[in-house]
Amino acid sequence: MNETLTLGIETSCDETAAAVLRGGRELLSNVISTQIPLHRKFGGVVPEIASRKHIVNIMPVIDEAINKAGVDLRDINQIAVTFGPGLAGALLVGLSAAKSLAYALRIPLIAVNHLEGHIFANFLSAPELEPPFLSLVVSGGHTALIKMTDYNRFELLGQSRDDAAGEAFDKIARVMGLPYPGGPEIDKLAKLGDPNAITFPHPKVTGYDFSFSGLKSAVLNYLNTAQMKDKTINAADVAASFQKTVVDTLADKTLAAAEEFGLDKIVLAGGVAANSSLEKTLRTACQRRGLEFFYPSKILCTDNAAMIACRGYYQKTFADSTLNAVPNLGL
Ligand code: KG4
Ligand code: ZN
Repeated sequence: MNETLTLGIETSCDETAAAVLRGGRELLSNVISTQIPLHRKFGGVVPEIASRKHIVNIMPVIDEAINKAGVDLRDINQIAVTFGPGLAGALLVGLSAAKSLAYALRIPLIAVNHLEGHIFANFLSAPELEPPFLSLVVSGGHTALIKMTDYNRFELLGQSRDDAAGEAFDKIARVMGLPYPGGPEIDKLAKLGDPNAITFPHPKVTGYDFSFSGLKSAVLNYLNTAQMKDKTINAADVAASFQKTVVDTLADKTLAAAEEFGLDKIVLAGGVAANSSLEKTLRTACQRRGLEFFYPSKILCTDNAAMIACRGYYQKTFADSTLNAVPNLGL
């Protein structure tokens, strides 16, 4: 049995998180201190406030992760930390903590790409999962279809040319007066509405790239026009119709890519993976086509350090103390 203990650290946006992983898949602790209530009154993440809060939270969160895991800090064999993409100031807090601890404990440091981390959340929810598979990564900042043939081989098939799926959810929710983050709010509201009530245009992008800015504008236009004409709108119908358009677009491209590349496993990842309609639509479509479908448990969908520890464990490449934050890191 592999007893390697990895400490994961994540501070790329508005969650300060630390986790301890034994081997590649046994999660011993997963601590997340969310700043969402703090940013809510501003309608989105304020980078300066996020950095300051990470500074206050980082050491208590790491201590809690170590204690909950029932281990001693000196038992940790390696530290995996997110170095991008994300907010520069926020990333630097996690990096500084990870670098200092790795130096003091004389253990290796692993630089983890946050987007790859999201995919690896699935290995924790489904310990039997192995590559190759097709992954749809949908987060607040990214929408991408990735063919993963090995733990360290990722092929980007397509990505968003403008707004990410989560971004579109958040922006529309904001205009509708729903609290930040908007994704879960739209998800909830959509359950009360008719997804076929309003026809919004489906994004017309060929291949496996995505574009959600046209759809976002169409929904905003619909809301503005109604307001100008003093017409009451059915907010639940707007939420349901918008969500259906996004979900259908994501599902159609994912299924087409699985077919073209002959992949029989589909793996959903990122914060938007928590969307109930996306999960249900993909699960049903996969069942119909005889494909296996994986998605992380809710707590592992949104930002966490368990996925960072897991990615770090399989990465097998190490960083040194010159490691810096790369805010616009791609896949
Ligand atoms: O992966 P994540 O936690 O952070 C980034 O790396 O960006 O994703 C956050 C995004 C936000 O846009 C949030 O609104 C969205 O995930 N999200 C959802 C749901 N839960 C979170 N979007 C739709 N439905 C949900 N249930
Ligand atoms: Zn994320």
